[in-house]
Amino acid sequence: MRIWKWIGGLTGFAALAGIAIGVLVGVPVIDGVDRYFSSNDFCADSCHVMTATVVKEFEASAHGTTSTGVVPQCRDCHISENLTGAMIDHVKGTRELYATVIEGIDTVEEFEAIRTEIANRVRMRMFANDSKNCRSCHVMAAIKPEKKRGQRQHAEAIEKGITCIVCHYDLVHKETPLSEEFDAVVGSF
Ligand code: HEC
Ligand code: HEC
Ligand code: HEC
Repeated sequence: MRIWKWIGGLTGFAALAGIAIGVLVGVPVIDGVDRYFSSNDFCADSCHVMTATVVKEFEASAHGTTSTGVVPQCRDCHISENLTGAMIDHVKGTRELYATVIEGIDTVEEFEAIRTEIANRVRMRMFANDSKNCRSCHVMAAIKPEKKRGQRQHAEAIEKGITCIVCHYDLVHKETPLSEEFDAVVGSF
């Protein structure tokens, strides 16, 4: 059989079958692991420093207490939607969200000491990707701010293409000073 020759006989076939099984089994496993590591449970329970800080702050925020019961997960704001993107984010996220592990951050004081730097990284990433995660729930044109100031600024945002994070920083976590880098971004509009 031609096809048989083409795949190089039995060895080739075994290799191909191996790859196929690897893909079939591997992807759901990676996906499962990915889901676990980006769930609120992982973020909240595994890192006590997070529990004592960002998680608590989030739970008290407007996003953590919506009357409709739509409660965003950490990943909804912090992890890309597609799997490959999510994997890259986990590598980057190790520094960001799971600093506990790699930088030896195991007290709240240590976390607070690097917080401005991490907040800056998150903000700059949201700025760079046009606040993509926000847009997975919010449709800019459909938002109707109650107050005049909001209406005015939203009209300006649409007109000038200003992205969410430029105005809505300190959204669900404690107020954190703007870095020079992010301050320059905000000031540029
Ligand atoms: C998983 C969905 C989801 C994601 C992701 C999300 N939001 Fe929200 N957001 C909500 C819901 C639900 C509410 C509450 C709406 C309500 O009560 O009508 C809300 C409320 C808000 C509010 C009003 C309350 C407040 O805190 O002032 C702002 C502003 C807001 N979101 C901005 C953002 C921005 C900026 C991002 C990205 C960093 C974002 N949201 C990401 C679902 C989401
Ligand atoms: C130029 C600044 C600016 C940009 C950019 C911007 N907003 Fe806003 N937004 C505001 C202001 C100001 C308010 C009013 C807040 C208030 O009065 O408490 C507001 C209000 C809101 C509200 C609450 C509506 C209400 O009043 O109940 C939501 C939700 C919201 N913004 C989401 C977003 C999202 C999502 C994006 C990006 C797609 C975005 N905003 C971009 C300035 C901005
Ligand atoms: C609705 C969107 C949203 C959700 C949900 C959310 N975050 Fe954030 N997070 C942000 C934004 C925006 C920043 C950037 C800093 C800022 O302006 O607050 C941030 C920053 C952070 C930082 C950097 C430190 C800091 O204070 O800025 C950590 C760590 C973090 N988030 C962890 C979490 C964890 C853990 C969860 C789940 C319990 C979570 N976040 C849920 C929007 C979100």
